[in-house]
Amino acid sequence: MTHISSTIHVPDVSETPRHIAIILDGNGRWAQKRRLPRVAGHTRGVDAVRTTVEGCVKRGVTHLTLFAFSSENWRRPQDEVSFLMRLFVMVLEREVARMHANNIRLRIIGDLSRFDDRIRDLVRRAEAKTANNSAMTLTIAANYGGRWDILQATRKIAEAAAASGQVGEIDERSFERHLALADAPEPDLFIRTGGEQRISNFLLWQLAYTELYFTDLLWPDFDEAALDAACQSYGRRERRFGRTSAQLQPTGRDALPC
Ligand code: IPE
Ligand code: IPE
Ligand code: MG
Repeated sequence: MTHISSTIHVPDVSETPRHIAIILDGNGRWAQKRRLPRVAGHTRGVDAVRTTVEGCVKRGVTHLTLFAFSSENWRRPQDEVSFLMRLFVMVLEREVARMHANNIRLRIIGDLSRFDDRIRDLVRRAEAKTANNSAMTLTIAANYGGRWDILQATRKIAEAAAASGQVGEIDERSFERHLALADAPEPDLFIRTGGEQRISNFLLWQLAYTELYFTDLLWPDFDEAALDAACQSYGRRERRFGRTSAQLQPTGRDALPC
């Protein structure tokens, strides 16, 4: 299904976000606070992912996108990167059956060419197994970067133009078709745990009109109550998409034709 861009049409909004995108941050600090190695925080982070996935399904969220490993995370110490790769394998081996049983469709976005064959094969199999599930689409961003996403879409458009000998129309619709999240509506709510207030090269294009929510909670401590707090904050936002507040009130004077 294709979704209309928020800068072309004002989207329908509901009190519950349809699509939540999360930067799960603070695993290392969670562990360090307990005098544990940083990687212990990543292991505990998987539990918080499970709780969040199930909490989102329960609340009727249709798309959940999690930033698990950025294109810049390769800069971390080799030991930590290797641990994260092993954890990714373990999650793909152990959690997919549970997701499938819960009718969750799993998608992995990012530049997968940098992963080894085993991970790529597990990704392919997990996506194929869960492809027809309909309760929620869970997208894991791995070796993902917002700039990479925009560039890979641009490259595909350029290649099609070179092959056909025609540039054709390049507009938001034709461009978005090539982005990694092409089949999802734009995120309604962005959550970042861990206290930092930045996007860190996550969904640069798709966050254009997303409501941003930052919490100091460290990711392993993010639980159902924290998800509720984020959703409640979202429910209080006025999503204007460029319009005035009065235009949103059906009985407001400015809404009357004159
Ligand atoms: C987020 O937690 C997980 C990944 C980036 C893989 P961090 O590892 O960034 O935790 P902090 O920010 O160092 O506490
Ligand atoms: C962002 O977290 C990436 C992920 C959560 C996967 P980081 O902890 O790597 O972000 P920065 O480097 O502090 O911005
Ligand atoms: Mg961090």
